[in-house]
Amino acid sequence: MKITVVGAGGNVGSAAALTVAQRDFANEVVLVDIERKDGEKTFYPSKGRALDQWQTASIHGFDTRVKGTVDYADTANSDICIITAGVPRKPGMSRDDLLSINANIVKTVTQNLVKYSPDTVIIVVSNPLDVMTYVAWKASGLPAEKVMGMAGILDTARYRSFLAEELNVSPKDIQALILGGHGDTMVPLPRYTTVSGIPVTQLISKEKLDAIIERTKVGGGELVGLMGTSAWFAPGAAAAQMAEAIALDQNRIFPCAAYLTGQFGVNELYSGVPVKLGKGGIKEIIEIELDADEQALMDNSCAAVRGVLEDLQRIQNS
Ligand code: APR
Repeated sequence: MKITVVGAGGNVGSAAALTVAQRDFANEVVLVDIERKDGEKTFYPSKGRALDQWQTASIHGFDTRVKGTVDYADTANSDICIITAGVPRKPGMSRDDLLSINANIVKTVTQNLVKYSPDTVIIVVSNPLDVMTYVAWKASGLPAEKVMGMAGILDTARYRSFLAEELNVSPKDIQALILGGHGDTMVPLPRYTTVSGIPVTQLISKEKLDAIIERTKVGGGELVGLMGTSAWFAPGAAAAQMAEAIALDQNRIFPCAAYLTGQFGVNELYSGVPVKLGKGGIKEIIEIELDADEQALMDNSCAAVRGVLEDLQRIQNS
C-alpha cells in the first residue's frame, strides 16, 4: 500500500502524512512539494518534512517508510493520493485570483499524479474544497467514485469535540452527520446526532445545541483567529482517516464530498454527503431522508458551491 501526499511540505499535507505513517497501514508514504527558492538558496520542504517524520518511526513505533520528493516519478503506482497543494490568500489577491491559482495547481498536480498512478484514488483537501474536488475529477479522467473531497469528517470532528466538551462525554461516543459544501453553509443535522444511540436532543437544550452548530460552521475561522493561519492537525488527520478506510477496505460511513448525479436533488456537483468508503473509493452514496427544512439548507449550500464553480468557469473562459 503506497500513499502519496502532494503539498506535504506544508502544514495540512505533512499532518496527513504523519497520521498515515503513525497508523501504520501503508508500506510507504511519499511527500511531494515544490522547491522553494530564497535568494541563492533552494529548499526542499517535502524532503525535509519526510526526513523529520521518518526519524520519529522508532519513537512512534511505525514501519511505514516516509520519503520526500519533488519528482512525480517517485509517486508511481500510488494506491491513494491526497492533494493539499495550494496557496493561501495574500494581501491584494482577489477571491477570483485565488480560485484560479488554486484550480491551476490542483489541475496540474492531478495530471502529474495520474500520469504515474493511472488507477489511483484521489482525496482532495485543497480549498475551496468542493470545487477543487470537481477540478481534480475533471483533470484526472478517473471515475467519480475514485475522486472525493475531505470536509465532512473535519466538520463533524469539530462538532463532536464541542459536543463532547459540553456533555462531558467521550468524543468517540458521538455520532454525527454534516452535509453540504465545506463552508458556513454546511448543514449539520441534529436529528442524526446521537450519543451512543441516544438522540442528542434529549441530552442538551436547543439553545446550547444551536450555539454549537453555529460554532461548528465557523470552526475554521475560529482557528485562524487564534493562530493567524488555518488549522492543520484535524484536517490532516481527517484526510488520513479516509485513506485508511480505503486502504483497509473498512466500509466506513463518512460524510465526504462526492459527485452527485441526482442524489439529494443535486446534479453534476461535488458536495458533502454520507458515503461508504472502502477498496476503490466510494462504494455507495447513502441517500438519507431529509425533512423540508434540512432539504432547504442542503439546496442553499449546494447553490453556494455551484456559484463558486460557475465563477471558476467564468474566469477560465474569459
Ligand atoms: N505542487 C505541489 N505543491 C504545491 C504546489 C504545486 N504546484 N503549489 C503549492 N504547493 C504547496 C506549497 O508549496 C505548500 O507547501 O502546497 C503547500 C500548501 O501548504 P500550506 O501553505 O502550509 O497550506 P496548508 O495550511 O497546508 O493548507 C493547504 O488545505 O485545508 C486546505 O485551505 C487549505 O487549501 C489549503 C490546503
